Amino acid sequence: MKPLEIAKGIYWVGSIDWNIRDFHGYSTHDGTTYNAFLIMDEKITLIDTVKKEFADELIRNISQIVDPQKIDYVVSNHTEMDHSGGLARVMHRIGEDKPLYCSKMGAKNLAKHFPQKWNYQPVENGGELSLGKRTLTFLETRMVHWPDSMFSYLKEDKILFSSDGFGQHYAGLERFDDEIGDKIMIDAKKYFANILMLYSPLILKLVNKVTEMGLEIDMICPDHGIMWRKDPSKIINAYAEWSEQKPKRKALVIYDTMWHSTEMMAEAIVDSLGQEGVDAKPMHLRRCHRSDIITEVLDAGAILVGSPTLNNQIFPTIADFLTYMKGLKPKNKVAAAFGSYGWSGEAVKVIKNELEEMDFDIIDPGIRMQYVPDEKCIAACYELGKKVAEALPKVL
Ligand code: FEO
Repeated sequence: MKPLEIAKGIYWVGSIDWNIRDFHGYSTHDGTTYNAFLIMDEKITLIDTVKKEFADELIRNISQIVDPQKIDYVVSNHTEMDHSGGLARVMHRIGEDKPLYCSKMGAKNLAKHFPQKWNYQPVENGGELSLGKRTLTFLETRMVHWPDSMFSYLKEDKILFSSDGFGQHYAGLERFDDEIGDKIMIDAKKYFANILMLYSPLILKLVNKVTEMGLEIDMICPDHGIMWRKDPSKIINAYAEWSEQKPKRKALVIYDTMWHSTEMMAEAIVDSLGQEGVDAKPMHLRRCHRSDIITEVLDAGAILVGSPTLNNQIFPTIADFLTYMKGLKPKNKVAAAFGSYGWSGEAVKVIKNELEEMDFDIIDPGIRMQYVPDEKCIAACYELGKKVAEALPKVL
């Protein structure tokens, strides 16, 4: 993809990764982009690089605008290798002695990834760097998404280079929010749920800080996906809402099944929830990817998890999902477990313990059924649906 002038003298020079489908366990159905930006000022400045495999493309893009050796400054907003993997190739091409601006933690973390003794210039929160006619201000944004993360704000152009923040794993010909419309919010929500949900309290503070500082923002340029220029407040407000994790009248029935018994229970619970006016859906763990389920978990008020007992354990996909969900620390959920078994039947207890450890409100001891659900079991599933519906907010 050729470079694109996104504002006068400021270029997108990154790469589009059309074919990536698994981003360290996150399903990227739509691919992704690694955005990098070139600011043409008295001091020519590169903000972020790309994944290592795309470094040559980045250099080709820069070369269409300026000789890479004329770059004066490099800014690394985030150490993770989808944005810094290309640094070795880029620094070698533009000059190993060029100043490399990053947070203090960024300097430490980059040094743990690269043996080169680069000219690190750690910056403070609020620190400024004059590029000539323009000024960059650095904002520490720890844990959005690593301890080294920071944003860079270009004062005169009112552009926020936000690294992972406000990003989306989306590869497309559209480059801006006004070109793609609201459908990008699905990808933005998925990104938030899977990458940032556990840092919700920090993000809420960050959004409040940015609001209090009165930063004027005409454009937000994240390192993944489209750039927000039509209405940057839309994604900022969405982050504030998602960070609060207010539960909706929505329930997820997440399960796996061996001979359809646990599935029969799941379907009965969903049917009951639907009859009670709850937005409910069954999510089979070998049909739905864990990262798509987590997107739904973000604003669900109830999580019901069902598993058969396999060799005295929960089914492996359930273990995978519970581990993933636990790490992301979702909040404000009621929960319960259910499942069929043959002879020992430990799964429901194991799931219940896991859900308790996640601080979910366990509203039922759980439903266990030996072999195939009978009428009594199905009736219990309908009762569980009613109980969950009563515990949820009254509005969808
Ligand atoms: Fe897109 Fe945390 O890296």
